[in-house]
Amino acid sequence: MSRFDTVIRGGNVVTPGGSFVGDVGIVGERIAALGAALDTTGAKVIDAEGHHVLPGVLDVHVHLELPFCGTVSSDDYRSGTRAAARGGVTTVIDFAIPSATGSLSEAADTWMKKAEGKSLIDYTFHICVTRYKEHRDQIAGMVARGFTTFKEFMIYESEGWQSDDAALFGTLELMKEHGAMLLVHAESSRVLDALIARHHTPALMKQHGAMLHAITRPNFIEAEAIQRAVQWCEATGGQLYIVHMSTAEGTDIIRAAQARGVKVLAETCAQYLVLDDSVFAEKDGHLYACCPQVKKPADIERLWRGLASGEVSVVSTDTCTFTREQKAMWEGDWTKIPMGMPGLETLLPLTYTKGVLGRRLTLEEMARKLSTNPARIMGLDDRKGAIRVGCDADIAIIHPTRTHTVDPDTMETNADWSPYEGWELAGFSRTTLSRGEVIVDDYKVVGKEGRGRWLKRTRAGA
Ligand code: URP
Ligand code: ZN
Ligand code: ZN
Repeated sequence: MSRFDTVIRGGNVVTPGGSFVGDVGIVGERIAALGAALDTTGAKVIDAEGHHVLPGVLDVHVHLELPFCGTVSSDDYRSGTRAAARGGVTTVIDFAIPSATGSLSEAADTWMKKAEGKSLIDYTFHICVTRYKEHRDQIAGMVARGFTTFKEFMIYESEGWQSDDAALFGTLELMKEHGAMLLVHAESSRVLDALIARHHTPALMKQHGAMLHAITRPNFIEAEAIQRAVQWCEATGGQLYIVHMSTAEGTDIIRAAQARGVKVLAETCAQYLVLDDSVFAEKDGHLYACCPQVKKPADIERLWRGLASGEVSVVSTDTCTFTREQKAMWEGDWTKIPMGMPGLETLLPLTYTKGVLGRRLTLEEMARKLSTNPARIMGLDDRKGAIRVGCDADIAIIHPTRTHTVDPDTMETNADWSPYEGWELAGFSRTTLSRGEVIVDDYKVVGKEGRGRWLKRTRAGA
């Protein structure tokens, strides 16, 4: 009788306690043993010699099939999670956003339907509170249903999603009461609207084109909003998590708040670590519009430092894919560009190549930012985010140096372009396992759509 169903043999295994060269033994869906020369009798053996064996990545900020900016984002749960798997991502967390009249529960049902039968990997949702006065009494019920993270947007009035200060304050109080966490998109809407109105002239649009996206969102737009959200967090004691932080100023605010014991955490996204706003001057610069937009080289430097020193806990993608045809809706007016970019397939390759090979993060630090921290913060660490006995066997095996050229034609995403087109990146997943099942083999997706499961949670936060 074999002891293990599968043994991953001879790789550099990255665990929360450090890395070792050895084996991972899997029984059913779970990791059953770690060690040197595990018994392979009767087991399927996956050779990982000369490779890194990493915990599967959790991308805790994605938007699949999102109705937004007058269109619908073009990666759904089929293409989006295939792209994820190829990039070593084994869990995604999306945002369930209520319809104009809908409840929080209805939003969750809608997103469940998008995922069921399509998702290749495990998933859950943050629940967006878009009409606080109506939704506040529904929060307790959503926690009881297994959703422990909520989200508010400080912008997007025209989408009907915007929250004001009273909503942020009240929701943070409820987060404290229920042991839940509030995620916030922090940008200062009134000043942003004023800057957009001031620049929205035919002459300026002709002169600056897509660069107006950056010109109208100076760093203080994000910094002021983060400062305000942190203030409400400090006043209420509710757990706060700033999503897609893009500025040096924001990172400084988070560091100072954490130093005085405020319960605030921050995530950045891969695009803010590798792209700056010079992209908007390129021929197809409008393709790069996302919200918030990519910033300056000094912001990139500060965010990498924030990852290394700890004030930035997570790297995600904010995947919100629009094709060239969808992006063409802008017709020279930057306020009409569908905002968002593809990202799931390149999260691990970018963070590994620019972070680990670029000597900004160790391999173990990278695993913390992509897997262990997001799992803990989002309340999934009982089974996700680490190569540890008892955890789900969610694993990405990568070659330390072998590169692939980023080419949308050969990728799983529905995007017909990539912000990283032509880049040579190491860190694509040679083999991805999800709950013990091989879903990517030799860099190709082999797993069946619909096998992914919804993940129920009971807590969230640091
Ligand atoms: O550009 C982005 N980020 N699109 C998705 C919506 C959001 O703000 O996260
Ligand atoms: Zn956002
Ligand atoms: Zn987002």
